[in-house]
Amino acid sequence: MDKLIIQGSKRLKGTVRISGAKNACLPILAATLLTDEKCVIKNIPMLGDVFTMLKILRALGMDAEMEGGTATVKPGKKRGFVAPYELVSTMRASVCVLGPLLGKMKKAKVSFPGGCVIGPRPIDLHLKGIASLGADLDITGGYIVSKAKELRGGHIYLGGHFGSSVLATANVLMAAVLARGKTVIENAASEPEVVDLIKFLKAMGAKIQGGGSHRIEVKGVRRLKGVTFSIIPDRIETGTYMIAAGITKGDITLDGAIPDHLRCVIDRLRECGLEIKASKGSIKVKYKKPLKPMDITTLPYPGFPTDLQAQMVSLMAVTGGISIVTEKIYPERFIHISELNRMGADIKLEGPSAIIKGVKRLSGAPVMASDLRASAALILAGLVAKGRTEISRIYHLDRGYESVEKKFTSLGARIWRESD
Ligand code: EPU
Repeated sequence: MDKLIIQGSKRLKGTVRISGAKNACLPILAATLLTDEKCVIKNIPMLGDVFTMLKILRALGMDAEMEGGTATVKPGKKRGFVAPYELVSTMRASVCVLGPLLGKMKKAKVSFPGGCVIGPRPIDLHLKGIASLGADLDITGGYIVSKAKELRGGHIYLGGHFGSSVLATANVLMAAVLARGKTVIENAASEPEVVDLIKFLKAMGAKIQGGGSHRIEVKGVRRLKGVTFSIIPDRIETGTYMIAAGITKGDITLDGAIPDHLRCVIDRLRECGLEIKASKGSIKVKYKKPLKPMDITTLPYPGFPTDLQAQMVSLMAVTGGISIVTEKIYPERFIHISELNRMGADIKLEGPSAIIKGVKRLSGAPVMASDLRASAALILAGLVAKGRTEISRIYHLDRGYESVEKKFTSLGARIWRESD
C-alpha cells in the first residue's frame, strides 16, 4: 500500500491548474445512461471514483472509454440494469445510477450503498423521490429493486433532517427527465454540481427550469440525445489549495477556478486575514499577516461546504486563539481530529463542534487517512509541521484529488509517494 511522505515547513508559491469536479462528473457520467446515443465528456479528472463509475457503466452494458481527460460513453450491444454490490459498495455516489436506469429502462437493481466512515448516510430521500414518480421499490438481498410501467411527474418535497440532498436531487432529476408530465422538486439542492448536471441534461434535450434554486421544475420528454460536454472545475480542490496558501504562509494562484462557486469560502478566508484576489477563471491567495481564529459552520450551498471542513480544522489548528468549527451536514465527520492531535494540535470535540486551541507549531508524525477530505487535512497539516509526516491509506486521497503530489511539488512542497 502506498503512503505519502511530507517534509514540512515550506512556504508554497506558484500556480496550480484546477481539475474537473469529481462530484459533478459522477452524476453526469450516470446520466449518459439516459440516451441511446454517444456522449463525450471532457475535463474529467483521473480519479479512483471516476474509474469506478466507468466500471459501473460497463457493468450496465455501456461502452465507456477514457482517454486523457475525456470519457466517451455509448450503449453497447446489450444494456443491463443491475449495479452490483462489488462496485457500489466501494463508492456511495454509484447510487445515482438508480434514477437514470429507471428513467430509461423502467427497471433497476442497484446495491444498497450502506454506511460510511464520515457517519450514517441514509438514502431515504432518494427512495422517497423515486417512489413519488410512480416506481415500485423493494429492498431485497441488499439491493434496491425498482420498476415502473411508466414514470409520471410528481410534486416532491426533498428535504431531510440535514436539509437538501445533492445526490437525491440528481437521482430524482434523472428519473424525471423521461417521465410523463411535470415534476416539481421542492427543497432541491442548489450546489454547482447539481447545476452542472442540469446543464448537461438540458443539452441532451431535457426541459428543466429553476436549476440553482430550491424549486426545480421538469417537463418530461420522450427521448434525449447524445452530447459533448465539459465539466466545471472542482471547487473543493480549489478551496483545499486556498487553505494550503494560508497554512504555509504562501502565495498561490488557482487557474481555471470559478470564484462564484466559492463565495462563502472566499469571504471566510478573507475575514481570517488572507488576501484574496478573485477574477474570471482565477483566484489568487496570499498570506500577508497573522491569521485570526474563526467560527465556521458547514451548511448546504451557498454556505461553507462540509467537504472543506477538515481542511479548515487543520488551518485553525495552527492559528492563534480559539476557533469553533461546527458540522451541520455530517455531525460525525471528525475522524481527522485524533490524527491532528497526534501531530500536536489541541482540538476537542463537543457534539458536532470541534473546539480548536491554535498551537504555535505541529510536529510531523505517522498518521492514517480515514476518508478523502480527512486525507487532504492531513496533507495540509504535514505541509506546515516541523519534520516528517507519513500519511498511510492514501487510496482515499486518490479517489478525489488529481495529481496531488505533482501539484504540491510544483508549488515548492517536499512531498512524495512511497510503497510499504
Ligand atoms: N441525507 C438524508 N437522506 C438521504 C440523503 C441524504 O438524510 O436520502 C442527509 C445526509 O446524511 C447528510 C445530508 O442529507 O446529512 C446531505 O447529504 P447529501 O445527500 O447532500 O450528500 P450526498 O449527495 O450523498 C454529496 C457529495 C459529498 C458531499 C455532500 C454534501 C457527491 C458524490 N458526494 O454527497 O461529497 O459531502 O454531497 O455536500 O456528490 C466528498 O466529495 O468527499 C463527499 C463526501
